[in-house]
Amino acid sequence: MSGTTNEPTSSVPAGSGRPVVHFTPPRGWLNDPNGLLSVGGEHHLFYQHHPHDTVFGPMHWGHAVSTDFVTWRHLPIALAPDGLGVVYSGSAVNDIAGTTGLGAGAFVALFTYHTETGESQAMAWSTDGGETFTKFAGNPVIPVAPDRPMTRDPRVFWYPDDGGHWVMALAADGDVVLATSPDLRSWAHQDDVSVFTTIDGVEGGVETPDLFPLVADDGSHRWVMSVGLPSGPAGGSATAAVIGDFDGTRFTPTEAPHWVDHGGHFYAAQSWNDTVDRRVWIGWMGNWSDLPTAPPGRSWCGQMSIPRELSLRSGADGYRLAQTPIRELERYRLPGDVVRDVAVTAVPLRSGVGGRAVDVEVVGADVHGSGLEVHCRRGTLRLVVTARADRLAVSGLPFGDGSHRSLDAPRPGTGPIDLRIVLDTTSIEVFSGTATITALLPDSSDEWAVEASAEGADVAVRRLSVHALDATADPADASDA
Ligand code: FRU
Repeated sequence: MSGTTNEPTSSVPAGSGRPVVHFTPPRGWLNDPNGLLSVGGEHHLFYQHHPHDTVFGPMHWGHAVSTDFVTWRHLPIALAPDGLGVVYSGSAVNDIAGTTGLGAGAFVALFTYHTETGESQAMAWSTDGGETFTKFAGNPVIPVAPDRPMTRDPRVFWYPDDGGHWVMALAADGDVVLATSPDLRSWAHQDDVSVFTTIDGVEGGVETPDLFPLVADDGSHRWVMSVGLPSGPAGGSATAAVIGDFDGTRFTPTEAPHWVDHGGHFYAAQSWNDTVDRRVWIGWMGNWSDLPTAPPGRSWCGQMSIPRELSLRSGADGYRLAQTPIRELERYRLPGDVVRDVAVTAVPLRSGVGGRAVDVEVVGADVHGSGLEVHCRRGTLRLVVTARADRLAVSGLPFGDGSHRSLDAPRPGTGPIDLRIVLDTTSIEVFSGTATITALLPDSSDEWAVEASAEGADVAVRRLSVHALDATADPADASDA
């Protein structure tokens, strides 16, 4: 079924509960991001998709494109199940040099065929810029491995040194397997990376690996390997990363792995290939231990996080991944409240800005005492984000049985605190330094009210802004950032 047309996600009327600035499927179920590739000024987002129901089912690859990572144009379904299996997660590359023999610039997708008894890796290509795909007649390119039949989620990229070759990272039980290829068809096993079972005693399989280089804030060139793991800091599935060296064939971790998000809803994160000047990733806002569900009458289920730009910060505990919302999001800010050089003392700083989605930014908070608090209210929901020198926390998060819980994240680092909060109809994402907390919220089309305070503390803030976000507005007109 193609079933999708060029309908921007943001054109859904207020009141439907659709997120304002987060990607959702036009209908049906969504989980992992797949096939992330930037080409010709467009960013492709494929995703695990069951088009016929709002629950997980036979997986297809849904497809959308964006020129700014915020508003998306839906395209027809790219890959559907066939006799070899259903279509699980994978990646996409632009074969600029024509190494596959399919022509220079072929758009090639690598994905997993899943069956109950085994998983194989397969290829499909597009010669119309990713609109339509042809599955390779010689599939699978990597057959089911007899010793590890459940091996999946090929993450492929071009390694340019020494003439260049393709690298594939695969999830195989508890390991990340690395393989190389000259042509995307024949693959040679190179390395098994077993570091992730050491994080917080987690046991079980890794999923959806990623591997990419970043230049750290101290100028050193590092590689980041990330995976999904079954039990993270907020319970259920979560994303971890480890920093190391990669020589084109072998990855050597240089420190212990760390969690990249301390909320319960940032999973299967993948970064875009070919974004050139920045590394951008996105995650499924879901959790296999507590799957998102659609309220009665809603035709879709599942959403992506805000795309995030990645950097690497050095500190006493080694390198940590830092995430910030994609910079283009600022173009969708409506005129809002901006204050500069204020002391947030006993008197709370109120914001008159309401909106179904709101972007809060605090720059250079000099915090003494218990910390800077940002209260985010909507209907009966009362979320409090607290930023302190050493911790980031969110309290008041609704939890299954009607109770509420708090989540917190270590916030290593010294000096003034920066804080960013992106609120949408169904989610909150909080970023401060290398700490990130991502959580889904119950649907609502009510407007947010935001207020900063510093009870018992003395906080001087260089800049504090609160803006409603509107992805239906012309970004050129909406910006006052
Ligand atoms: C991760 C995952 C992948 C798999 C896909 C199936 O969330 O379990 O390992 O390919 O989802 O939809």
